[in-house]
Amino acid sequence: MAGIAIIGGTGLTSLTDLEITGREIMQSPYGEPSGPLTRGKLMGKEVLFLPRHGYGHTIPPHKVNYRANIAVLKEAGAEKIIAVNAVGGIAADMQPGKLVIPDQIIDYTYSRLHTYFEDGLDDVVHIDFTHPYCESLREQIITVANNKGIEVLTRATYAATQGPRLETTAEIDRLDRDGCHLVGMTGMPEAALARELELCYASISVVANMAAGRGAGEITMEEIEANLVSGMKQVRNLLEQVIPVL
Ligand code: HPA
Repeated sequence: MAGIAIIGGTGLTSLTDLEITGREIMQSPYGEPSGPLTRGKLMGKEVLFLPRHGYGHTIPPHKVNYRANIAVLKEAGAEKIIAVNAVGGIAADMQPGKLVIPDQIIDYTYSRLHTYFEDGLDDVVHIDFTHPYCESLREQIITVANNKGIEVLTRATYAATQGPRLETTAEIDRLDRDGCHLVGMTGMPEAALARELELCYASISVVANMAAGRGAGEITMEEIEANLVSGMKQVRNLLEQVIPVL
């Protein structure tokens, strides 16, 4: 049983070095996940892989069935999840191409199905979310990155926005005043759902662009895609080093 799962984000719809051992179509009480689960071996270790936006990258961030994705990963035996997220950089050191292991989140999303604890409860449930990411997994990723000379930024607050449009300059200024360093559209409710199911969850965030008003001129999809090509190469490298030690 594979205890490790990777959720791929924009720019990571497949893992090139994954030795695929199976594909599984799974259903959940919450509907369909983003696609069949891929089972495979990365550096000899069993992993599960699920691309958040589907294998064809067709599901936008606000349409992802986050509840189904996390539920099927749990059902398939995942205990630890490494989520890969493309983000915009708000803070000056969050430059395109950088890898970041965030430690905090502010949730600005709305109208997303964001909890498992709604109906048929014996009692109301409030999960602790003081530290939204699994500290031990964050530390393992950071330690491996440091040992292997892969540069990662180790503290950042992730602003989860609704999308699919990018933000206005004023919105980014507000996120900056709120203390956010990064902005992305997929960090929530994914992290909270993982916590609700008691899964250890951490993110490798890849800076695709400077956020609105933080770079020169408009943000283009070409710029985002180009930075993600190089950023995801580093992510694959980091995953290959991290997975064997988990
Ligand atoms: N904003 C929100 N989400 C993103 C961005 C951004 O600038 N870049 C990549 N994902």
